[in-house]
Amino acid sequence: MTGTIPKAELHVHLEGTAPPALVRRLAERNGIALPDGLFADEHNFAWTDFPDFLRAYDAASMCLRKAEDYRDITYEYLAACAGEGAIYVEMFTSPDHAAEVGMSYLDHLEGTVAGIEDAEREFGIVGRIIVTCVRHLGPERGVAVARDMIAEPHPYMVGFGMGGAETAFHLRDFLPAFRLAADAGLGCTVHAGEVCGPESIYDALDNLPVTRLGHGVRAIEDPRLVERIVREGIVLELCPHSNIATGVYADMASHPFGELLAAGCRVTLNSDDPPYFATSIGREYATAAEEFGMTDEALRAVTRTALEAAFVDEETRTSLLARLDEPG
Ligand code: ADE
Ligand code: ZN
Repeated sequence: MTGTIPKAELHVHLEGTAPPALVRRLAERNGIALPDGLFADEHNFAWTDFPDFLRAYDAASMCLRKAEDYRDITYEYLAACAGEGAIYVEMFTSPDHAAEVGMSYLDHLEGTVAGIEDAEREFGIVGRIIVTCVRHLGPERGVAVARDMIAEPHPYMVGFGMGGAETAFHLRDFLPAFRLAADAGLGCTVHAGEVCGPESIYDALDNLPVTRLGHGVRAIEDPRLVERIVREGIVLELCPHSNIATGVYADMASHPFGELLAAGCRVTLNSDDPPYFATSIGREYATAAEEFGMTDEALRAVTRTALEAAFVDEETRTSLLARLDEPG
């Protein structure tokens, strides 16, 4: 039973955590008409492949219009994670999505912070924010996001990252944005090796100041790259259900989670965009037990890796590690 294992998540897109019911509720509250064809049915979004998933995700994100919407989506996600035994969640937020509907960086940040505070007070779960830029919007937007972020520091805003279409631009084009973030003391991670192969991971490790990779799963296709990831202690934010849903792997039996772990990679478990991929942090842990043969002890070690690699301050990290070590 994985339910009682303390869990930690490093890779989840806040805008991608809202299930259809919440998207509908927020759209109604804000008087917005959602695009036709957004939902497959009451409980599922409609999308086909990875580019189409990004389109659906963008369309659903447009229901977030006010600081209180960000507060609600953050609070509801963290409450659900706490119910599954999570003690720590780092959430990607996208100021570009907020700006698209006329929201300021500060409104979007303050709403998210309020959701984190309310959830911690009620459930004891600790949440932190990784600000992301969107790769297909280009390097100049990336720099603008990094500048806004640095101009408004907040103790809960601990990292910088990037999502979006992995086929757009080269990662080296985004070095100015990542340099700004790293020089401001923020942890950095980037999506690579999800849709594209090992070359996308070399592009990340050779050019950006990252200590973690979003996915990075396709490193398995290049043994030299796996060795490098092990040697450099790069942490992989693995998202198995996301990879199956987007067609990177046909099924869990083909997923290289076990091989990456056996090779010595530091791996974590994550839900990415839970309602789109029919998953949750609890389901990722349960699947790892059922499909990858992970024991409770091995799953606790995955949580330890996540807490060690988290971009959180040292005092909070120490207290989270102590919670992991409580007998349970
Ligand atoms: N944005 C939201 N989810 C994403 C994913 N899985 N990969 C890249 N960008 C994303
Ligand atoms: Zn992702």
